[in-house]
Amino acid sequence: MEKTGVYINAKDVKGRINPEIYGNFSEHLGRCIYEGIYVGESSTIPNTRGIRNDIVKAFRHIKLPVLRWPGGCFADEYHWKDGIGEKSSRKKMINTNWGGVVEDNSFGTHEFFDLCEQIGCEPYIAGNLGSGTVNELAEWIEYMTFDGVSPMAELRRKNGREKPWKLKYLGIGNENWGCGGNMRAQYYVDEYRRYQSFCKNFSGNELFKIACGPNADDWDWTEVIMKNLGPWHTRGISLHYYTVPSGNWDKKGSARDFTDEEYYETIRKTLYMETLLTRHGQIMDRYDPAHNIGLIVDEWGCWYDVEEGTNPGFLYQQNTMRDAVVAACNLNILNSHCDRVIMANIAQAVNVLQAVILTEGAGMVLTPTYHVFDMYKAHQGADSVYCYVDTAKAGEKIPMVSASASVKDDAMTITLANCSVSDDTEVKINIAGYEAGKISDAVIMNAPVRELNDFDDPDRVNIKEFDDVSLYEGNVTATLPACSIVRITLEK
Ligand code: AHR
Repeated sequence: MEKTGVYINAKDVKGRINPEIYGNFSEHLGRCIYEGIYVGESSTIPNTRGIRNDIVKAFRHIKLPVLRWPGGCFADEYHWKDGIGEKSSRKKMINTNWGGVVEDNSFGTHEFFDLCEQIGCEPYIAGNLGSGTVNELAEWIEYMTFDGVSPMAELRRKNGREKPWKLKYLGIGNENWGCGGNMRAQYYVDEYRRYQSFCKNFSGNELFKIACGPNADDWDWTEVIMKNLGPWHTRGISLHYYTVPSGNWDKKGSARDFTDEEYYETIRKTLYMETLLTRHGQIMDRYDPAHNIGLIVDEWGCWYDVEEGTNPGFLYQQNTMRDAVVAACNLNILNSHCDRVIMANIAQAVNVLQAVILTEGAGMVLTPTYHVFDMYKAHQGADSVYCYVDTAKAGEKIPMVSASASVKDDAMTITLANCSVSDDTEVKINIAGYEAGKISDAVIMNAPVRELNDFDDPDRVNIKEFDDVSLYEGNVTATLPACSIVRITLEK
């Protein structure tokens, strides 16, 4: 059996893992918002003011910290005034990016804040810079956050909300190098400077302004943005990186029908996140050595060809153990870069791309990816500590084991993924700077790489107790089966 060494030093703290690293992204795309999250008050599916109760419960369970909305590409064609007031008189529009379907705007600002309040998460609004106006965005902020007497605050009250909401995270544009206007970096950053000038802090609300950052490894974009942001309290720049197994956007590969070689290539491409965070971080360090500006990976995950027979514009795909391994590796990487990365949002929450939840009518399936978020939630708000993995190669392409470790309230959480589809590995975890007295909890998710949960069998892949682990003189030994994800909790 392969042997793996993991070396943890609890005294070497990289930083606090902002809970927002475990965020989700929800767009008006396919069946994410409509059907997936929002079914309307007259639906027979149990709901609270139109929002599905099962979805809220599932997100509360994983302690979802933040939800990004309304897009994506949709954000730069969204006009927020279409989504307020009496539903029957809300404007109907074409969702030009996603299938050309009718958007009836029945889910808008009030419904989104209601959703976040029900879940107990921070709202993250993506504002329209691509096809909107400065005034439109300024008025939206006034509508959401101003407590005094003003036209937008009065309009909000007229629509049934007396008190303003708290809004922290505000993105100013989305993918403005692409669907958000096909802008060049210098042009975008000038526009960003203008837009952000009119995004005001009202009534004690403090905006955390986020500029559009790079697409994957577009280092130049990061350079130009960081150089020109100006001293106006920008707190974050975004990064989008999708794992596309084939690397070919016209034929990305199937979500459930793949070879071992395609699997290893998927993980290899996922691990590129490490390079992206390191190199974009190095560019940011030159302009912001104090780390005042965070990197916000507000779109990540696997992007495959859509499920057969579904609308190509809806981006609906199934989710297997491969996706769980992708999520585990990405979250381990994000944990270890928490000194720069302060938020991440998997794409997307429900029924789109690497969804954590799938729905069909009243049915709901928690995907293997969901269970990874569940296992990893113990990292939220903990101190990320040094964790080095010495491991064999799997599939001749990738390191066999990925890991990260954190400490909170004297408990240490260690998460590991064995990325091999065929080989078990014995792992010795050597721990310095922390005197482990007991293993207080250990869980595993382990299934063949193509295994998935569906509506006939929603519980095929799930978390179980893990027994093959022991503690001896402060160090841990465990045997990780092929294709498994494990969480070990230690206490003093
Ligand atoms: O998540 C789907 C799309 O991917 C988003 O709308 C866009 O921002 C990205 O290209």
